[in-house]
Amino acid sequence: IPPVYRPCEPPLINGWIPYIGKALEFGQDANRFLDKHKRKFGDIFTVQMAGKYMTFVMDPLLFPNIIKHGRQLDFHEFSNKVAPMTFGYPPTNSGKFPHMQEQISRSFQLLQGDNLTVLTESMMGNLMLLLRQDYLGEGAGREGCWRKSRMYEFCNSLMFEATFLTMYGRPVTAPRHSGTSDLREDFARFDSMFPLLIAQIPIGLLRRTKTIRQKLINYFLPHRMSCWSHTSQFIKRRSEVLEQYDTLRDTDKAAHHFAILWASVGNTIPACFWSMYYLVSHPEALEVVRQEIHDVLKLSEVEFSSDRDVTLSREQLDKLLFLESAINESLRLSSASMNIRVVQEDFSLRLNAERSVAVRKGDIIALYPQSMHMDPEIYEEPQTFRLDRYIQDGREKTDFFKDGQKLKYYLMPFGSGSSMCPGRYFAINEIKQFLCMMLLYFDLQLEAGQSRATLDSSRAGLGILLPAQDVSFRYRLRAV
Ligand code: HEM
Repeated sequence: IPPVYRPCEPPLINGWIPYIGKALEFGQDANRFLDKHKRKFGDIFTVQMAGKYMTFVMDPLLFPNIIKHGRQLDFHEFSNKVAPMTFGYPPTNSGKFPHMQEQISRSFQLLQGDNLTVLTESMMGNLMLLLRQDYLGEGAGREGCWRKSRMYEFCNSLMFEATFLTMYGRPVTAPRHSGTSDLREDFARFDSMFPLLIAQIPIGLLRRTKTIRQKLINYFLPHRMSCWSHTSQFIKRRSEVLEQYDTLRDTDKAAHHFAILWASVGNTIPACFWSMYYLVSHPEALEVVRQEIHDVLKLSEVEFSSDRDVTLSREQLDKLLFLESAINESLRLSSASMNIRVVQEDFSLRLNAERSVAVRKGDIIALYPQSMHMDPEIYEEPQTFRLDRYIQDGREKTDFFKDGQKLKYYLMPFGSGSSMCPGRYFAINEIKQFLCMMLLYFDLQLEAGQSRATLDSSRAGLGILLPAQDVSFRYRLRAV
C-alpha cells in the first residue's frame, strides 16, 4: 500500500504494478527514465521500485549537500546487505565479527600513498611480462604485419591477468597462474548475472550461477593462496584481518577475496576498453597522446625502443595530462554508477539555502551522475569524445558550470564522499600504463566497416557500462 503523501516530500511516482512500481521501466533505460521524469517533476522526485522508495536528486548543484550528510544518510547499510549476498560471505556487521568493518575499511589505505607506488611498479612489470610473452614474442606481427583482434577481448585478457598478478601475486614456482583463462571465463559468466544479484534475486534462481560463483570462490581458498608469492600488501592485510575470526569458514574468507577481484577488474576492464576505443577511433587524438608519452619519457632521458622493456613511474604517469583527459572523457561517456544513501531517520534534508525536503527512515536517496555527465549545459556536445575536455591552459580543467554556478562535482565515475572508490588512483594508473604500452609498441587501427560502439545499459547504475558488441581492430609492432 503506498504511504500517505506528506507535505514537503518530493513528488511520488508509483507506477501501476503493485510492489514492482517503476522498476521495470527504470531497468530498461535508467538514463532516459530519469530524464523523462525530471522534465515532468523537476529536480527531485521519489520513485517506488520493487517495494523501495528511491528519491532521485537530479540537480548536480545540490549534490554537495547530499554527499556531506554523513550520519543521517548512510552508505554502508546498503552495501553491507547487498555485497555479502552477491559474493557469498556472511554480513560483516552482524555482531559476529566485531571491528571487522573498520579493519576492512582501514585496509583501503593500502591502495593509496606509498603503497600505490609499489602497486603501480608491480603492475608495470606484470603488464610488460604478459606483453612480452603473449604479444611481442615470436610471430607477433614483426616486419609490419597487421594482426586482428577484438578490442574488449584484448583488454580483458591483458588487464584481468595483470591486475590479478598485481593484487594476489603469482605461484611461488611460476611467473603466471595456470588456468587464468578459465577463471576469466567463469568471471565473465558471473559478471553477466551481476545486475540480477545486486537486485537481490536469489542466486539459486539464476541457473548455474551458484556453481560458477563457488568455483570462483574456491580459487581463493587459504591453502591455495598460501602458495602464492609477491602478493600485494592490500591483500595480505585483508587475509590477516580475516584470519582473526574463528567463526569465518575458509570458503567465507575466500569469498571476501573474490569480492575484491570483482571490485578491482569489474570496472577497470570496461574503462580500459572505452579509453582505448575512443583513442583508436580518433587517430589525431591518439597521435597527441603518443607524442606526450614520448615527451615524458624523453624528459627522463629515456629513448623508447621496442627491444627493451619500458617503465613509467608513478611520477611520469602523473605528467600525462592528455592521456588523463582522454581517460576521464571516456569515463564520462561510459560510467553509470549510481550513488546510494539510506535515510537513517525521518528528517528534513536541506538541499540549499532556500530548499529542504522531508525524507523518511529507510528510504533511499540516489544520485545518478550519468545524467550530469550527459548534460549539454555542463558538457557541450556531450555525446562527442573531446581529447582536451579536461585540460585548460596546460593543466587539468576543473571549472565546469551549471546555471552560471561552478560545480563542486562534475565527474563522478568513482562515487562520492564516504562511498568513494578507494582503488581510484590505482585504476587510473593501470589504465594509463595499459594505454602507454599499446601506443608505444603498436600501430592501432579500427577495422573498416563497423558501426560505432554503443553502451550496453543492462548494468546501468552499477559502474562502467560494457559495450553492446565487441569491436574489431588491428595492430602491428611499430617500427621505432
Ligand atoms: C567501490 C568505481 C576500480 C576497489 C567503488 C564504487 C565505485 C567504484 C563507483 C562505490 C560503490 C558504491 O557507491 O556503491 C570504480 C571504477 C573503477 C574502479 C569506475 C575503474 C575504472 C577499482 C579498483 C579497485 C577498486 C582497481 C581495487 C584495486 C574498490 C573497493 C570498493 C570500491 C574495495 C568498495 C569500497 C567500500 O566498501 O567502501 N568503486 N572502481 N575499485 N572500489 Fe572501485
